[in-house]
Amino acid sequence: MNIRQPLETVRKARIAPRMANVTTSKIYEAIAKVADMQAAGIQVASLTAGEPDFDTPRHVIEAATRAMMDGDTHYTPVRGSHALRLAVREKFRRENGLEFCDEETIVGTGSKQVIFNALAVTLQQGDEVLLPVPYWAAYTGMTYAAGGVPAFVQTTKDNGYKLGPDDLTAAINPRTRWLVLNTPSNPAGVIYSESELEGLGRVLRNFPDVFVLSDEIYEHLRYTAEPPKSLLSVCPDLADRIVTVNGVSKAYAMTGWRLGFGAGPRDIIEAMANLQAQTTLGPSSVSQAAAVAALSGPRDAIELMVSAYRQRRDLIVDMIRSQSAVSLQRPDGAFYALLDMGDALRESKQFGAHEAPDAAFCEWLLENRHVAAVPGSVFGAPGTVRVSFATDSSTIERGLDIMLTAIGEIH
Ligand SMILES: Cc1ncc(COP(=O)(O)O)c(C=O)c1O
Repeated sequence: MNIRQPLETVRKARIAPRMANVTTSKIYEAIAKVADMQAAGIQVASLTAGEPDFDTPRHVIEAATRAMMDGDTHYTPVRGSHALRLAVREKFRRENGLEFCDEETIVGTGSKQVIFNALAVTLQQGDEVLLPVPYWAAYTGMTYAAGGVPAFVQTTKDNGYKLGPDDLTAAINPRTRWLVLNTPSNPAGVIYSESELEGLGRVLRNFPDVFVLSDEIYEHLRYTAEPPKSLLSVCPDLADRIVTVNGVSKAYAMTGWRLGFGAGPRDIIEAMANLQAQTTLGPSSVSQAAAVAALSGPRDAIELMVSAYRQRRDLIVDMIRSQSAVSLQRPDGAFYALLDMGDALRESKQFGAHEAPDAAFCEWLLENRHVAAVPGSVFGAPGTVRVSFATDSSTIERGLDIMLTAIGEIH
């Protein structure tokens, strides 16, 4: 008997089917379009940025320069240099009250790599990753690339865009492998309070197979009196299934250095390190030296940046207040404001017939009024538009003014 299948039935797709849902982000498309327009001499008010408009603090650049001059230009250990792992553990102890041992800590090429690796080493085909909506778009692509499926849990502006215990209970099913919690969040700037985290922890105790990825990358960008709480510090008994992720990109204006870190259960961290050993190894040695200086150095640069972000956030809140067609839940953290256009776009003659009226509106706004913003459907929140305040106040004022006038006309 010939057990070999005919060639045509075994021929492989050139691109793996799991990649069908891993597409380039609308955010990057918008950013590329803005760059093209600017290169053509068109002045664009861009409110798309997902990164600080400040430069990396001087002492960090000096530390990186010294590292290069001193020959720190070789491979580092896979999980990160000894000095950086120590600085990461010290950061978690000092700022979050969390104690990790060395085997529970890993450094990666951006927190993005850390998050992806955590998903990649744990997801089995078809496992679900719970994402409270609105979510950071990259979680979906990473989940698909790792063989999982995103499962969305709706939240509303009225409940502060927050996942509540009842929503979580209703969303968990036997296929659920991860809950991803992002606080402070992109795109709504939401910060979960200690009691809200406790409420989620109470539910999670009933589902011992569910891991939690706590993405705390915007931790330092907060406009509240109290710093945000880390889920693990509120629910220490869940330590065997929480992976806490953070990095230097946002707080220290170091997006280009590509340096993030994570801490969690030893077995998961070890598997992530094994994956990293076979793929990228440790991040750039120079970036690691810079991150040691960032995590261990003076805090005044963060304070200056946060105070500028706060003023810009207040400017946006004031501008929105004077507009009846748009509403906003004041962001408590990160550097984004999620403007809710209500039914204005869906009901408009011009955009309502499109599959995603918010995307059609943003496209029109860029082409005709030269203002760039990110449509909320990218984050699972159609009918909203994300405005970044990681840009100077005059650009925000000009861009938002044009956008609000346009919305007023549609309304
Ligand atoms: C919620 C969230 N997590 C993680 C990241 C990734 O940060 P990085 O890979 O630069 O550390 C971003 C970047 O936009 C983000 O918005």
